[in-house]
Amino acid sequence: MELNILTVCYLIGSVTFILGLKMLSNPATARRGNLIAAAGMTIAITGTIFLYKDDTGNKLHNYAWIFGGILIGGIIGTLAAKKVKMTAMPEMVSMFNGMGGACAALISIVEFSHIGNNVVPGSHKLLLPEGGQGIILIILLGVIIGSISFAGSMIAWGKLNGKVKDFSFKGQHLFNIAILLVILGLATYLIGWTPANATIIFFLVFALSLLYGIFFVFPIGGADMPVVISLLNSFTGVAAACGGFLYNNKVMLTGGILVGAAGTLLTILMCKAMNRSLTNVLIGSFGGGAKAGPLGKKEQGSYKEISISDAAVVMSYAHKVFIVPGYGLAVAQAQHACHELEKLLEEKGVEVKYAIHPVAGRMPGHMNVLLAEADVSYEKLLEMEQANEEFPGTDVVLILGANDVVNPAAKHDPSSPIYGMPILDVELAKTVIVNKRSMKPGYAGIENELFYRPKTSMLFGDAKKVLQDLIGEIKNL
Ligand code: TAP
Repeated sequence: MELNILTVCYLIGSVTFILGLKMLSNPATARRGNLIAAAGMTIAITGTIFLYKDDTGNKLHNYAWIFGGILIGGIIGTLAAKKVKMTAMPEMVSMFNGMGGACAALISIVEFSHIGNNVVPGSHKLLLPEGGQGIILIILLGVIIGSISFAGSMIAWGKLNGKVKDFSFKGQHLFNIAILLVILGLATYLIGWTPANATIIFFLVFALSLLYGIFFVFPIGGADMPVVISLLNSFTGVAAACGGFLYNNKVMLTGGILVGAAGTLLTILMCKAMNRSLTNVLIGSFGGGAKAGPLGKKEQGSYKEISISDAAVVMSYAHKVFIVPGYGLAVAQAQHACHELEKLLEEKGVEVKYAIHPVAGRMPGHMNVLLAEADVSYEKLLEMEQANEEFPGTDVVLILGANDVVNPAAKHDPSSPIYGMPILDVELAKTVIVNKRSMKPGYAGIENELFYRPKTSMLFGDAKKVLQDLIGEIKNL
């Protein structure tokens, strides 16, 4: 009977994970989806703690360790999530993902310790448990993938918060391939020959996997970090699924596979949005590693500025205004002021919409989350393709702290590191107003010729302050 209740708990867990994931794909339902999946996870964990019995009918008994761990982890996780700034979200995701990888690797280490010390009497071979070499294969997959995910995520976390610098040396890719081949060779030996000295080999595989994780992420450019984090996230999912296989635990298996699949899909989508192949991300040097391309050195001519009062007049008398949010809007925490400007313009009869580039900001869905925080209606957020269709009928495009995602070099300059990335075609509108603090480049480190075009006017200043001044000015018109 108890086992049946546990199975129902696992079923509820699995269904809520799938539902939650589906709901996460829409900003309107994302928050609820997260809570539903978390509730399912709580049911699955609680069921395991109180109802699980092993083959010999023993229940879990080490409650002090279990609840001690949950309490400490829960407090740290809650505080970290409450304290984190929106702009530091990718590094927190990376850190949490690394912890998942470490858990999966630790499960494999614990499970291997049950096998590694048992030798067939009078032989130099391991005494295999039921499941034979298949069990060792799953254990090895868990420790290899989990360790790579843990070490890689820690380096990604360090790089994102500036504590770890990009590091590469000549022949690094060959070095990485060599480590990987040694890991695979040792793993094959361990599975095929099951030697009595397996423990030493196992820990060698573990250490080399950590090393591989470090050197795998070290040379990757800073701007590519979200793609790498998403890839590592899928690794963690697969490593957790290995744990599900080991314990014959369906909910762990479902959860791991979902994370693995979602991470892989997100990685592919991000690469598509930047028009780059995964290989190019992993061995290329865009972003952190890239220096200003030839365009950066080209003489761009002069740019013109617009005053707050002129910008207020231009927008107030427009029929249709598009707002293009970018990383700078998140830095300035100007989302509430932005929403206020939108409401004010609409009161004056101006139609206002937002154009959302898929990789604006520093993480997937960054702009959607930011604007949702300020209660901007989801219907007003247009995806890139849709916005590009509407720009020709638009009077004013107001760019708030965006740069690379509106850089025309992506369309026509093959020497540009962002060449081929689809962009928001803001130049199709009648007037473009760009708000940023200076003429400095964005994340890709390149100049933006849009700022020098005749249609464009620069509105310098911190996004929040500029928006507040604009609101004040429009109110007085
Ligand atoms: P960026 O190209 O990074 O430009 C942001 C601009 O905001 C900067 O030029 C900066 O100029 C301005 N800014 C900074 N603080 C500001 C403030 N307080 N007030 C006003 N402006 C401010 O941003 P983007 O256009 O959103 O593009 C995102 C970049 O990240 C792309 O290159 C993209 O490929 C990359 N990336 C994104 C993702 C995801 S998933 N989102 C993943 C990988 C890579 P000033 O310093 O002059 O103010």
